[in-house]
Amino acid sequence: MWQFAARWTQKLPAETAHNIAVYALAHGFAPIADQILLPVKTGGLSFDNPLGLAAGFDKNGVASQGAIRLGFGFAEVGTITPRPQAGNPRPRLFRLPEDEAVINRYGFNSKGMEIARNNLRKIAHRQGVVGVNIGANKTSPDMVTDYYQGAYYLAGEADYLTVNVSSPNTPGLRDLQHETHIKQVLQAAFKGRDEAIGQPDRRPPVFVKLAPDMQETDLLRAMDASLEAGINGFILTNTTIARPEGLQSRHRDEAGGLSGQPLTRRALDVLAMASAHLQRLKAKDIVLIGAGGIGRAEQAYARLLVGADLLQLYTALALQGPYIVGQILRQLKAMMIADGLDQVNQITQKRLSADQAILYAAHISKIVSKS
Ligand code: FNR
Repeated sequence: MWQFAARWTQKLPAETAHNIAVYALAHGFAPIADQILLPVKTGGLSFDNPLGLAAGFDKNGVASQGAIRLGFGFAEVGTITPRPQAGNPRPRLFRLPEDEAVINRYGFNSKGMEIARNNLRKIAHRQGVVGVNIGANKTSPDMVTDYYQGAYYLAGEADYLTVNVSSPNTPGLRDLQHETHIKQVLQAAFKGRDEAIGQPDRRPPVFVKLAPDMQETDLLRAMDASLEAGINGFILTNTTIARPEGLQSRHRDEAGGLSGQPLTRRALDVLAMASAHLQRLKAKDIVLIGAGGIGRAEQAYARLLVGADLLQLYTALALQGPYIVGQILRQLKAMMIADGLDQVNQITQKRLSADQAILYAAHISKIVSKS
């Protein structure tokens, strides 16, 4: 029935379908999956499994528990801006089914941090890990202060905070990834968090989410500056402004961020660069979250093989419906068994290159499909 409902909503305009899905998850009209245990401990947090719902689905913090019931180990709400804002004019969300992709230019439609905080406080028995992703208002005179405010206001409701400086739909936002700005932004977020939560051991870790469109040198500089500011982890990656060759769908030239399958390879490469950099620096206990074009277990496995501790997806859920979560997790578990592993972090520790990871994951996947 749920797969039927998901298929039916595919016929509706994309944003309407999105709103229905958020409503369904917020009000318990969604399937409850068997929990698949693949525990991960990282960043001082315990996850039932490594697959999370990426930011952008639940922008106002109403659907995290519905997402956990679908089988996700964690859900990241947001991006939340300090003040309410409407986002860009519609249409601003486009399906590219032939490419298994989506383009969005929502532009941080957000009810603001006050409403989001109230929504998060209403959750009675919180299950799973809930991350809170913060951003800046489009017309803000001082974007750095927006991150201070978001962190101050929302740290108390967050198991982790994500500083989003990589969405392509807010003019000037991605400039904050530059090494000269990112440190200031992160210091502001840490200050907000620390002022809000006095007890150091109760402060949520802070992760930063970066774009896939940076050159390697810029990525590594942004990482170094983030580490100097005391960052606890990296989410790689957000959507891309690139339009890879070969896109088929009529919406391929819409402005905005592209997500889904055409992003897979670039997001894997960026994650592998980041993982290798952290290895070189011998940086300890930095969390790596792989996102971008994860739609099958094989792709999830490859992301873990290059060094991801955790994974996130969004577009595969939007295009394939709610059963994708359990499907990926069940297959991931089968792949681990075929690989002779019983802990997710044993995959993470292999630290393969991107090319090796693709071959290795394909090999394990083949063993599973033959058995
Ligand atoms: C997003 N994404 C996103 N990211 C973020 O940090 N804040 C946000 O508000 C949004 N909004 C958003 C809306 C829509 C419609 C999409 C498709 C995506 C990016 C998302 O979290 C993720 O990083 C990318 O989409 C790549 O993963 P997938 O979708 O390829 O699995």
